[in-house]
Amino acid sequence: MDTKTIKISPSILSCDFSHLADEIKRTADAGADMIHIDVMDGAFVPNITFGAPVVKSFRKYTDIIFDVHLMINEPLRFIDDFAGAGADIITIHIESCNNVKETLEYIRSKGIKSGLSIKPKTDPESLRKYLPYTDMILVMSVEPGFGGQGFIPETLDNMKYVSTMLKEEGYDIPIEVDGGISEKNADIVAATGVTIFVAGSAVYKKPDIQKAIEDIRESAIKGSKN
Ligand code: DX5
Ligand code: ZN
Repeated sequence: MDTKTIKISPSILSCDFSHLADEIKRTADAGADMIHIDVMDGAFVPNITFGAPVVKSFRKYTDIIFDVHLMINEPLRFIDDFAGAGADIITIHIESCNNVKETLEYIRSKGIKSGLSIKPKTDPESLRKYLPYTDMILVMSVEPGFGGQGFIPETLDNMKYVSTMLKEEGYDIPIEVDGGISEKNADIVAATGVTIFVAGSAVYKKPDIQKAIEDIRESAIKGSKN
């Protein structure tokens, strides 16, 4: 995946669930690069969202990249379902299973991109051995489970760590950030080397989502030049 261009991936967790299909179309039309789809199982995280049949139902409305974030235990069980539902990227959590390598390889075997995520308190060094199997690293900047939380500033150190590690190991793969991102902090995040920005409330709680997406993008572009 391209590691140079800033991309915005609005998280539909914060959109109007009673009009999901319209919200997805509206988001694609507003200039989003991807749609971030948060799947939660009520076990890995203390919240439940939606499963593969719901994701599949969105696919007929848009060709936009589906960036599926699995916050579920033992995700290997559901890779067939989400790949079949039209996911383009499936990200799993390093904390969610003991067969991380096998799961990442299985995602790739479906012809789609594999992402690997760490929660804020997880040692980013734990990612190193999985880099050969990963197309994107997702650094969480809140504890996963809910939208609308405050950005945890200490996670900037995780982003910097991952950025340095990727350079050391010679991997040109993008870093994504998720949680509490807005136009107010996208610049400092981009300065660490992050290029994919997930944002829920900073997009959907604004009256003009196109402007919201552009504001986050502009802030990130500014920060990436520092
Ligand atoms: C949290 C989710 C996020 C969340 C982001 O577990 O993974 O994608 O929706 O929402 P905001 O941008 O409001 O923090
Ligand atoms: Zn997410």
